Amino acid sequence: MENKISKIGVFTSGGDAPGMNAAIRAVVRASIYYKKEVYGIMQGYEGMISGDIVKLGARSVGNIIQRGGTILKSARSVEFRTPEGREKAFRNLQKNGIDSLVAIGGDGTFTGLHKFYEEYKVPSVCIPGTIDNDLAGTDYTIGFDTATNTAVEAIDKIRDTAISHNRLFFIEVMGRNSGYIAINCGIAGGAVATIIPEESLSMEELFAKLDEGGKTNKKSSLIVVAEGSKIGGAIELAKKFSERNNYFDIKVTILGHLQRGGTPTYFDRVLASKMGVAAVEGLLNGKNDVMVGIQNGSIVYNSFDMIMSHHHEIDNESLRIAKILSI
Ligand code: F6P
Repeated sequence: MENKISKIGVFTSGGDAPGMNAAIRAVVRASIYYKKEVYGIMQGYEGMISGDIVKLGARSVGNIIQRGGTILKSARSVEFRTPEGREKAFRNLQKNGIDSLVAIGGDGTFTGLHKFYEEYKVPSVCIPGTIDNDLAGTDYTIGFDTATNTAVEAIDKIRDTAISHNRLFFIEVMGRNSGYIAINCGIAGGAVATIIPEESLSMEELFAKLDEGGKTNKKSSLIVVAEGSKIGGAIELAKKFSERNNYFDIKVTILGHLQRGGTPTYFDRVLASKMGVAAVEGLLNGKNDVMVGIQNGSIVYNSFDMIMSHHHEIDNESLRIAKILSI
């Protein structure tokens, strides 16, 4: 491996995701393994701009693999979107001698880093850390598995009370532009319908689906709605449905940010560990402006352009079986 890289800066940015700590740990320990220095940049681009940067060692990341959130904290920086903000950030990297970056985050994080790479040519590798699983170039993002398990556990609990009261629940899960959490929760939680941004389902089709259940003596139902639904969120859909039909007692639960917290699953910890090591090895092997991914079980590196110009499609098989099973 070549050794032009000597000081690696690592940070988390955008919405946090369970498993980010495991990724930070892997980046830090892999850097040390390859005899490089490693620095934690606090609060994403905000800390880069303000100079909130700390040297990390193997022990700084002890006892964090099992913790949700991110020890480096996170933010969605507005200032980094400006040329002045990015210049301040570059000066602070120079001041600390940081010559390469590993960013853990989602598409907003990567867009910022790509711009920064174009302007300042700091070698950068991204690790996909977002519960949304909405990034092309990887089968899974860190945090998606944990968030989906959390949501399924909540849905199971809602099912208990829905059955007791013969109720219809609209349950909203996260996913601004992506139905990944929703479709998987819908299948695993036994939903009668799942509304996702990628599929165009009309209100009429949804009503027809619920009417069918009514006819076959379905007494309670769960509908999973992705936050980014094109026909309205859970509150709106519940309102529309109750205006039209009153044979169900209707309730709404919005799971919200509880999906972002909690202990990462084994899957997310292993994924984060593999990606963290791969990010450092990628940098040392001259990879720039790329995202680490996992595809068909193998580590891959994809260019920023490829990631940003593709949508992470939901597989047709998941859509198909969700329909077959929701009668
Ligand atoms: O990108 C992750 C995510 O949790 C989305 O699912 C959600 O739409 C968004 O972040 C919420 O962001 P914030 O925590 O800034 O409200």
